[in-house]
Amino acid sequence: MTATVTKPQYEIKDIALAPQGKQRIEWAGREMPVLRQIQERFAQEKPFAGIRLIACCHVTTETAHLAIALKNGGADAILIASNPLSTQDDVAASLVADYGIPVFAIKGEDNDTYHRHVNIALDHHPNIIIDDGSDVTATLVAQRQDQISEIIGTTEETTTGIVRLQAMFNDGVLSFPAMNVNDADTKHFFDNRYGTGQSTLDGIIRATNILLAGKTLVVAGYGWCGKGVALRGRGMGANVIVTEIDPTRAIEAVMDGFRVMPMIEAASLGDVFVTVTGNKHVIRPEHFAVMKDGAIVCNSGHFDIEIDLKSLGAQANEVKEVRNFTQQYSLPSGKSIIVLGEGRLVNLAAAEGHPSAVMDMSFANQALACEYLVKNKGSLAPGLHSIPTEVDREIARLKLNAMNIQIDSLTPEQIEYLNSWNAGT
Ligand code: ADE
Repeated sequence: MTATVTKPQYEIKDIALAPQGKQRIEWAGREMPVLRQIQERFAQEKPFAGIRLIACCHVTTETAHLAIALKNGGADAILIASNPLSTQDDVAASLVADYGIPVFAIKGEDNDTYHRHVNIALDHHPNIIIDDGSDVTATLVAQRQDQISEIIGTTEETTTGIVRLQAMFNDGVLSFPAMNVNDADTKHFFDNRYGTGQSTLDGIIRATNILLAGKTLVVAGYGWCGKGVALRGRGMGANVIVTEIDPTRAIEAVMDGFRVMPMIEAASLGDVFVTVTGNKHVIRPEHFAVMKDGAIVCNSGHFDIEIDLKSLGAQANEVKEVRNFTQQYSLPSGKSIIVLGEGRLVNLAAAEGHPSAVMDMSFANQALACEYLVKNKGSLAPGLHSIPTEVDREIARLKLNAMNIQIDSLTPEQIEYLNSWNAGT
């Protein structure tokens, strides 16, 4: 006799949290008019009928709207967390109880559980993967080769994931198309800059309740996320220092009015440090050694590797939770360093991630990227693909309409001028 193995339907913290989650999901929906329009069209047209889809995203109120749009579009969809600390447990509960979407995500899950959930998701035999950081795609490529023939394509949300996908392609192991959602204009200009800018400060403030005015804020990395954190930090009255390894970005930061210097110099000046580089060990022992007593360090880049917390932990006499998501590392020198959100994305660990109004555009890109993969099944080359410009612009147009903002359009004379070369000086 063969034993029947029943697959788990979901794995969440507590289904009783669903009513609160539903209320919060509905609230977020007010700020997501673009995704709502897409969802309404999907409900009519069912572009994902017969498609198995897994989404590995931060399980938030905003992601809930993406998952609902995909399900309403006919997808057999399940959702897992893209980070052990970013899940909103009430949202996970409501998605299961109110919307019938299986979710495998618990805030605070350990790394083993996280990877088990990735494998449960792959057991769903997806045709489409929505990834945020590329953990599912990397697992598929490394460990589940037999499933690759079932894949139509993946979509990737974040810079770190795009870098990993490009590395997979360079290694010759990415044999299907991957839509580069991160680099759509309506994604990174808004989500990475204004989303990360606001939500990172939100996370720092919720975790610590500090006053930013008058503090020295060190921002490591001046990509779109770093630009947002520096801009909003200055707006709150902080003295902002930027550290960079890219000379062009460093000049940009200087001309945007920020002090720029190596981390080893900034380390002794900063009160609060935020890493947003996508690289590892940007803050390490030599930096901790010269920091002020009580310096606060946190990360808003995708992975928890930007701050060398293993070294800090090895040095510390004691690590103590002093507030939610706030740990004090006491060092033999008598100084202490404060670490937020265990070095994981502080905006999602200690706050609620980016506000719905920016995720509206990011997830409109995700939804339309999935539809594009299905419509072009079999005809896209392996490797990274940009979101088509017309899709990007349509999202911007829908967002402006929803904000009730009108813009000019070209006159026939201007169109002719832009298409001519003989009307010079
Ligand atoms: N990434 C950053 N903020 C997010 C949010 N609110 N929802 C999903 N993914 C996110």
